[in-house]
Amino acid sequence: MSDKITFKIFRGEPDEDGDPFGRLVDYTVDLDEGMVVLDVIHRIQAEHSPDLACRWNCKAGKCGSCSAEINGHPKLMCMTRMEEVLEEMEDSNEPVLVKPMQAFPLVRDLVTDTSWAYKTDKRIEPINGPEEPDWVFHQQEADRLQEFRSCIECMLCVNTCHVLREHQMFDEFAGPRFFVRLASLEMHPLDTESRIPEIKEDFGIGYCNITRCCTEVCPAGIQITDNAIIPLKERVVTQYYDPILDPIATAKGMAAGVFSYFTDDFTQGKDPGNLKKARGALDRERARAEEARLADISRTASARKRNR
Ligand code: SF4
Ligand code: SF4
Ligand code: FES
Repeated sequence: MSDKITFKIFRGEPDEDGDPFGRLVDYTVDLDEGMVVLDVIHRIQAEHSPDLACRWNCKAGKCGSCSAEINGHPKLMCMTRMEEVLEEMEDSNEPVLVKPMQAFPLVRDLVTDTSWAYKTDKRIEPINGPEEPDWVFHQQEADRLQEFRSCIECMLCVNTCHVLREHQMFDEFAGPRFFVRLASLEMHPLDTESRIPEIKEDFGIGYCNITRCCTEVCPAGIQITDNAIIPLKERVVTQYYDPILDPIATAKGMAAGVFSYFTDDFTQGKDPGNLKKARGALDRERARAEEARLADISRTASARKRNR
């Protein structure tokens, strides 16, 4: 027993200026129990429009290929159950709207050009660790990196981030996906690269104002803002704007709004107390560095004992 469902899907290609040019087309197909949005797209391809372009691969939420905007929400089509979609629409008879990701240039229909991601990835120095590591990973170190490694590169977070979507700052800002990647390297205990200067200057972490929209849409459940971006911001602050080590640079950084989460209100004269938050961040980072230093000492001692 099946019901009918109507999808309104964007069909089109870029015009000569590269802007999306097309129209929304309605398709009605049977809806069976347990279908996900990608199943409906496949049925539309099979029964109505074999030339409808969409990208997919695993149909299991692992490859990150089938990202799209479903009723305006950035989602994986293969992991979005039709029951959920209809529940959100409160069983109205409106068609389900499916569009390509809006932050990226259109290739055709639901397919976008995400080659920016490959270029940005290449700008990041790979891990630089010892040839023959002598290191016993602590479970918490492995857990911290494992969260970042669960990224499936779906680019839904990038599509959602206003710095990229609205302001198109693809050259100046690495975006949430690549702050996750940078965090996985920066927090790797064996990595010796000094990444903070490029995180600040080349990858523009100061543009992030911690709205957390990226975290809300991540299908892998990565706490992008709290676990990757904020710790990286704290490291930038420690290195460049520590008020004790360098009060002049701190004052300049505050005035330039480099660390906007802590300073926006301050620079606008609303809440001078925000400096307290910046100092709190520094204290937390110092405590973390001290913890890491003690762990290093204890590991070195154990390694020496093992080698005796
Ligand atoms: S938290 Fe930062 S990276 Fe994430 S969406 Fe907001 S501005 Fe973009
Ligand atoms: S961080 Fe999450 S939303 Fe962003 S690309 Fe990775 S899996 Fe997708
Ligand atoms: S098809 Fe692989 S994540 Fe959807």
